[in-house]
Amino acid sequence: MANMGHLISFEGGDGCGKSTQLKLTADWLRQQGKDVLETRQPGATPLGMEIRCLLLSGEFVPVPECELLLFLADRAQHVQTVIKPALANGQWVLCDRYSDSTLAYQLAARGLAEGVDLKPMLAFAEAGCTPQQTFWLDVPAEIALKRVRARTDMGAESTRLDEEALSFHERVHAAFIDICKQYPERMVRVDAGIQIEEIQSNIQNYLEDLLAA
Ligand code: TYD
Repeated sequence: MANMGHLISFEGGDGCGKSTQLKLTADWLRQQGKDVLETRQPGATPLGMEIRCLLLSGEFVPVPECELLLFLADRAQHVQTVIKPALANGQWVLCDRYSDSTLAYQLAARGLAEGVDLKPMLAFAEAGCTPQQTFWLDVPAEIALKRVRARTDMGAESTRLDEEALSFHERVHAAFIDICKQYPERMVRVDAGIQIEEIQSNIQNYLEDLLAA
């Protein structure tokens, strides 16, 4: 497609600072004259907001299989109604979480992929929209969890998954290390334990190549 945009996802455990980095990256790309769409999963469409509530409010506790299918349902709706049209318009789409979250949280940390190949289902929901670049903001699970708990103490909303035990978040972290090994071209590990400005400048360095292309 002639006017194809770019899809870039930001990943990491809860409390890794990826939303801040996504915003700073969007601002920087706009300064370069790019048309940027900031979006997120789950919950970036009206239907997705309902799914997000079902998944994260804590009112319901889905079985792992149901949890997986709801995240995929949110993604399918988001891809078809928001991401594909934006890419066709030549926009830079920055997405807070994408399929790697499903790989890490549902397939790995929940252990759903043991003995079953669920990747075709993830590809089905993506419908051909795979990120060109994914930034994994890496902080140790224990530090990230402390940040989340501090935010919650200050009155921020916590989600059902934030409340999972440290061991769950450690499995998520280990899964992201594996995903980086599996997809070395697409995945970029960013040390997120350093200053915000330094993290941002590392991200910009990686994006220079895509900008030049
Ligand atoms: P959110 O409030 O968006 O937090 P964060 O700032 O951490 O992104 O919560 C989204 C939660 O949903 C987060 O705990 C990760 C989880 N999640 C999955 O388990 N699987 C998925 O496929 C996605 C997209 C998110």
